[in-house]
Amino acid sequence: MAMAAAFPAFLILYIAFPLTLTSAQAPPPVLTEDYYAKTCPDFQKVIRETVTEKQKEKPVTAAGTLRLFFHDCFVEGCDASLLISSNHVNKAERDADENLSLSGDAFDVIMKAKTTLELTCPGVVSCSDILAETTRDLVTMVGGPFYKVKLGRLDGRVSKAEHVFANLPRTNQTIDEMIKFFESKGFTAEELVALSGAHTIGFSHCKEFSDRLFKYNATTPTDPEMHPKLAEGLKKTCANFTKDPSMSAFNDMITPGKFDNMYYQNLKRRLGLLTSDMGLLNNPRTKPLVELYATNQQAFFDAFVKAMEKLSLYGVKSGKDGEVRRRCDTFNDVITS
Ligand code: HEM
Ligand SMILES: *[C@@H]1O[C@H](CO)[C@@H](O)[C@H](O)[C@H]1NC(C)=O
Ligand SMILES: *[C@@H]1O[C@H](CO)[C@@H](O)[C@H](O)[C@H]1NC(C)=O
Ligand SMILES: *[C@@H]1O[C@H](CO)[C@@H](O)[C@H](O)[C@H]1NC(C)=O
Ligand SMILES: *[C@@H]1O[C@H](CO)[C@@H](O)[C@H](O)[C@H]1NC(C)=O
Repeated sequence: MAMAAAFPAFLILYIAFPLTLTSAQAPPPVLTEDYYAKTCPDFQKVIRETVTEKQKEKPVTAAGTLRLFFHDCFVEGCDASLLISSNHVNKAERDADENLSLSGDAFDVIMKAKTTLELTCPGVVSCSDILAETTRDLVTMVGGPFYKVKLGRLDGRVSKAEHVFANLPRTNQTIDEMIKFFESKGFTAEELVALSGAHTIGFSHCKEFSDRLFKYNATTPTDPEMHPKLAEGLKKTCANFTKDPSMSAFNDMITPGKFDNMYYQNLKRRLGLLTSDMGLLNNPRTKPLVELYATNQQAFFDAFVKAMEKLSLYGVKSGKDGEVRRRCDTFNDVITS
């Protein structure tokens, strides 16, 4: 009788599936690790060499690129929409009003890889694949875990500044709001905690945490959840931040350039920089994971690998929704906006 029960279910699936595809959307593409094996066999090697040279010259590249990748994926999917430059008819994602202070070195390493790949295998490798592969190589290079990057993304044909705000998390959201936001994009609270571990490298501008130093609330200027020594140091660093907005601090002041689990250890010592970092230790859904990752780096790396592999496939474009851009900062058909 199991057969009889299975048969109608199969029919329902068979009928329902094509119906879901009657919209203009193309089906999600199937990505593979060896996508360029025949068409651009040197792809991995070119990326690795470009990345190694750039990271040696500019050690901030790794963190800048990891953040660029996250922002690209969350806005329109992992489709290099964030690499598009604005023009007179289109204000692109990277020029959104919320100054994202994205790293120039991150854009640069992608452009360099693209230039080399266009000489070796013109018109073949998408900018979104370059960004995904580059991010993985950089994470690994600064001590993070290796993970598999599937390839075959197309580059998006839409990049709009006004799509940015609603699609990125903000430091002043509560953790419950942030969990809801991640869930709305198909990511779990566990994945939120693991991905936040990216803040084990890189830095933040003073304006992102200055409220914790100078105007926590009406009666208490400094957030009591920040270690007093850290607060003291940051107040000096950020004393002039309104005059000099470039003033910044390391996200992880203990091992700032190393991808490790120090981020979570810092939270437990009240050394977290952003409100959204410290908050992870206070929310009952995220706290146990912070505790786990703080004591078990392998558990963090395992969760981070899974979450990055999932993030890398988020909203990937195919068919007429995408193209292989000739230049990463410009749509092939410039009229398209
Ligand atoms: C969960 C919510 C998150 C919030 C509220 C948040 C917020 C921020 C903020 C405000 C900064 C400082 C930017 C600046 O001042 O230049 C920052 C930096 C950074 N974020 Fe996040 N972030 C979040 C999640 C993530 C995720 C999921 C990743 C990657 C997987 C990530 C990677 C980074 C990196 C690497 C930096 C340092 C960038 C650099 O040094 O150039 N963040 N984040
Ligand atoms: C959070 O920050 C954003 C951007 O900095 C701002 O527009 C928004 O009003 C803030 N929200 C709250 C609740 O403070
Ligand atoms: C400000 O924060 C402190 C420390 O958390 C708290 O004791 C105090 O009640 C708060 N004051 C106001 C006006 O919210
Ligand atoms: C802040 O600005 C003043 C005057 O411009 C300068 O003398 C001082 O060194 C600056 N402090 C920091 C920490 O940058
Ligand atoms: C955005 O931030 C960067 C780095 O702090 C700064 O150089 C740039 O002038 C800012 N742009 C705008 C439009 O505020």
